[in-house]
Amino acid sequence: MRARWLPNVPHPLGWTPILGNTTTIRANFHRWPEFINEVSQAMGYQAWALSMLNAPEIVFMPCDEAVVKHVLKDNFENYSKPKRNKEALFPLLGRGIFNVDGKLWEHQRKTSLHMFTRRQMRDHMTRVLAGKAKVFREHLAAAAAEGKTIDIQGAYFAYTLDSFVEIAFGVEMDSITQAAPFGAAFDKVQSALNQRFYDPLWRIKSRLNLGTEADVTTYLPAIHSFTSSIISRRVAEMRAERDRGESCQRADLLSLYIDAALRAGEDVTEDELYDVTINFILAGRDTTACALAWTTWEVANHPEVLAALRAEADAAAPRADGGLLAHGSSPEALYETVQGMDYAQAVVSEVLRLHPSVPVDSKQSLGPDVWPDGTVIPHAGVTVGYSPYVFGRSTLLWGADADRFSPGRWADEGKISYYKFLTFNAGKRLCLGLNLASTT
Ligand code: HEM
Repeated sequence: MRARWLPNVPHPLGWTPILGNTTTIRANFHRWPEFINEVSQAMGYQAWALSMLNAPEIVFMPCDEAVVKHVLKDNFENYSKPKRNKEALFPLLGRGIFNVDGKLWEHQRKTSLHMFTRRQMRDHMTRVLAGKAKVFREHLAAAAAEGKTIDIQGAYFAYTLDSFVEIAFGVEMDSITQAAPFGAAFDKVQSALNQRFYDPLWRIKSRLNLGTEADVTTYLPAIHSFTSSIISRRVAEMRAERDRGESCQRADLLSLYIDAALRAGEDVTEDELYDVTINFILAGRDTTACALAWTTWEVANHPEVLAALRAEADAAAPRADGGLLAHGSSPEALYETVQGMDYAQAVVSEVLRLHPSVPVDSKQSLGPDVWPDGTVIPHAGVTVGYSPYVFGRSTLLWGADADRFSPGRWADEGKISYYKFLTFNAGKRLCLGLNLASTT
């Protein structure tokens, strides 16, 4: 299939017959958000388009809150997740919340909203995250005592994997201090599936089991067997408990889903439970680990920010009494205390403005549309790109010092508009872990 050309949107990268911009895209994929940012800046933050062999055209949204609101909320029904993304990610995400639209998404969103607001779930998440943070702190302290260097980003990925596996399944894992086969398999499959986004030949390679596609075949079974053994055991245990008239005492996501289904007399298949839990782990794990790694980097480069953070934490939970992690044996108290730390919240927002964990996202049109800025989407099948990275660094939206790390700017920001601060997405698919993410 040839790359196509949208007639009424600027193509600043030029145009090559058949290939479109495939060569430029491949050359810049390793720095994709920065590349998109450079082009958007050069375009004065107006809409622009590029095209790629074997894929629909991509139109990038302008830095305009009205356009984002139009696509993500007001005309939400005219846009879905791109078909090729869903196909590429299917082996891992199945029909989970990240990978579906329409009625299937609506149903999962509604059920998840119900789960996420239940007090025991919130408390369970905080308890697990705080418990794992203690293991993490001991791991760092031991490395420091031995004068060892550690890969802090890798350690954060281990911390969030252990945390979200326990939150999702109620099962303890320790990949912080030792190698965990599930974590390694998860990383391999995710990385192989990501390659599919810029490789027009991935389907052929998948059929021939070549290159990174072979990793999908090799490592996916380890993920499936780990999860399905937990799921089938839990379903059996909970059915037996129900038959004995016992109520559910567990607080993990898997048990909450099974309990809700049993109580409503509904059938829930093991495939659905796999989709729910794996999508949840994916949603929380990488995003939070990246946010922690970037926070470390920014704070290390800004000693004045570190001093202010320390002062606020000491005031909220004195170090002499064991600090935040010892503060309040109740997770609820810890959660409330952290929510009340305005400066720490501003630091996290500022980190996520400059370093959004999902820097570029996309949708696909289901029919023609005209955006509030006049951009014409002529037909179904156009991919619409939008970049929280570009939005976060846009001088149009954040002023001349948009590139500067400055937590103080959040004091003047007032109520956050998620159409401007796009890090957590916006509109109908706004991140469901928003509160938890800013507390972790
Ligand atoms: C810094 C941390 C986080 C960031 C930056 C973040 C960002 C995002 C973004 C950009 C999306 C939209 C993705 C898309 O539709 O293409 C999203 C969706 C979602 N997030 Fe988060 N997230 C974070 C943490 C979490 C956590 C901790 C959880 C779970 C506790 C979570 C649960 C979800 C769920 C379930 C969705 C799907 C919502 C839907 O499609 O309706 N997120 N998040």
